Amino acid sequence: MAILVTGGAGFIGSHTCVELQQAGYDVVVYDNLSNASEKSLERVEAITGKPVKFYKGDILDRDRLNEVFEKEQLDSCIHFAGLKAVGESVVKPWEYYENNIAGTLTLVDVMRQHGCKNIIFSSSATVYGDPAEIPITENCPKGQCTNPYGWTKSMLEQILSDMQKADPEWNVVLLRYFNPIGAHPSGTMGENPNGIPNNLMPYITQVAVGKLPELGVFGNDYDTPDGTGVRDYIHVVDLAKGHVKALKKIEENAGLKIYNLGTGVGYSVLDIVKNFEAANDIKIPYSIKPRRAGDIATCYSDATKAKEELGWTAEYGIKEMCADSWRWQKNNPNGYAD
Ligand code: NAD
Ligand code: UFG
Repeated sequence: MAILVTGGAGFIGSHTCVELQQAGYDVVVYDNLSNASEKSLERVEAITGKPVKFYKGDILDRDRLNEVFEKEQLDSCIHFAGLKAVGESVVKPWEYYENNIAGTLTLVDVMRQHGCKNIIFSSSATVYGDPAEIPITENCPKGQCTNPYGWTKSMLEQILSDMQKADPEWNVVLLRYFNPIGAHPSGTMGENPNGIPNNLMPYITQVAVGKLPELGVFGNDYDTPDGTGVRDYIHVVDLAKGHVKALKKIEENAGLKIYNLGTGVGYSVLDIVKNFEAANDIKIPYSIKPRRAGDIATCYSDATKAKEELGWTAEYGIKEMCADSWRWQKNNPNGYAD
């Protein structure tokens, strides 16, 4: 039996393939490569010494999905495939709803027709909106999302939960990621954003490598210790390991489960700049810019539930996150194009 990893060539998916293979699972990757390179899978193979079976395909393509399920013995699916650019989703809401929601509906329909009813879904802390409590537990009410991307996550959580309620043969684990950064410590795999990065860490590494002149810090008048936004940054390898633990939960017939995957620690934008500078001995020039629309002041997790129920806890600290992000960028200034 193998694990279907949709979006497995992407940032979090490729790191998860490493951890799955190292834990003894066979993986089958399904990705349309709209935001990834197949080279990431070659890097997975180089690290683990095991082949990765890859099908190029779209989650909206029912025939292609059927073909994969007919050829492969698939036990569970870890579903990363989706569009994730917050700003783009505001400009192209239809494309986001179609890709993420219609795509997931097609995927789960094909899954159930083939008797595969185990799914781990990539959700996000964004479903909490402007959170009602800090640190954020899984019981914190879901909030108003500020963009269509966030709504796709919130709606898909609802859809998958309703399906599980109607058919208890489904095991559904919703993983709410906080802010994944870092890269594989080998320096051979990492985040590969298209164009100018939206997220903080890839922006910083591109300033460090000389591709961008300076970091713009979006607001220093938030109600936080230094006025800049506070987030729960988590090393992508820790996040990947959380999926292996979630899979074990599925094997115990989990039913419906929801977990935050974060460290439980919040760092401000300026904390990240300082830690990056200290870990890598590089100066990051920055200037204060206006707040970015839709941003909240503070978002960090209470990571207790995943610790108690999955036996998972983040192991890497901020220094490793900064050092590993930089190692990847330094060794691969053009990402997988190098
Ligand atoms: P990514 O873009 O690197 O990976 C997503 C992968 O899905 C890409 O390889 C892309 O080619 C593929 N894909 C997109 N649409 C597809 C489709 N229709 N059919 C087949 N493949 C398709 O992003 P990531 O950072 O690895 O994120 C993985 C998942 O985690 C996404 O669902 C994302 O929304 C979610 N998530 C990410 C973050 C983050 O900050 N990176 C935070 C919370 C949740
Ligand atoms: N920031 C800057 N300058 C930049 C980029 C970001 O100051 O150039 C600041 C932001 O204002 C925020 C912090 O850095 O305070 C983190 O911003 P990111 O864009 O890296 O991350 P977000 O918290 O906004 O959102 C990310 C993903 C979402 C996901 C969320 C989960 O982009 O998809 O984490 O917590 F839902």
